Amino acid sequence: MAKVLLLNGSPHPNGCTATALQEMISVFEAEGIKTELIQVGSKNIRGCIACGSCGKTGKCVFDDLVNEVAPKLEASDGLVVGSPVYYASPNGTILSFMDRLFYSTHFSKHMKVGAAIVSARRGGNTATFDVLNKYFSISGMPIATGTYWNQVHGFTAEDVRKDLEGLQTMRNLARNMSFMIRAIADAKEKYGLPKVERGAFTSFPDGK
Ligand SMILES: Cc1cc2nc3c(=O)[nH]c(=O)nc-3n(C[C@H](O)[C@H](O)[C@H](O)COP(=O)(O)O)c2cc1C
Repeated sequence: MAKVLLLNGSPHPNGCTATALQEMISVFEAEGIKTELIQVGSKNIRGCIACGSCGKTGKCVFDDLVNEVAPKLEASDGLVVGSPVYYASPNGTILSFMDRLFYSTHFSKHMKVGAAIVSARRGGNTATFDVLNKYFSISGMPIATGTYWNQVHGFTAEDVRKDLEGLQTMRNLARNMSFMIRAIADAKEKYGLPKVERGAFTSFPDGK
């Protein structure tokens, strides 16, 4: 059974971002896709210190929720990351979490389907959305899309329940994501995964 992992970057387990994520979960359930929602935003998650320890061990030196979620991501076919907009960016906790999760894990994320969703009272949604999508686009993860940029509006969960277009976007996004997960599983059987080259790692013109 296909599985989607969902991360709530908000400190509010029942707030605006959670309401949007729940709308997606109800579609995944109807589509026969297993889900697991992880509450990230209320945890004490520090940022990456670039110590390089994960380069040797394949896990983060800070043994917290990041290392707990890593095997769950490895076992998932799709990842949804949700964040409230803080000063026109994802909130600090989810950024620290995503930096450490993506940097410390060495398993392939290739062809796992990614989707970012954001919740704002008023503005900064698309800038936040762009930042979150970049974790997927550097990792060979196809990005699922909906019928608008994936955003809801509100200050409270009640506001979001009134954002009918936002919720519709979440449902369409979850349906598209379910389709992509199934299509990729079929294509893997038929064609195998595309080859990935990794030899080159250049930052300067002389390659050193
Ligand atoms: C520190 C902070 C910064 C915020 N910055 C913005 C912002 O730039 N734009 C905006 O529309 N809302 C902003 N908000 C409001 C929340 O992003 C918004 O209400 C969101 O929907 C809350 O989602 P949640 O209930 O999932 O936490 C901010 C809230 C906080 C606490």
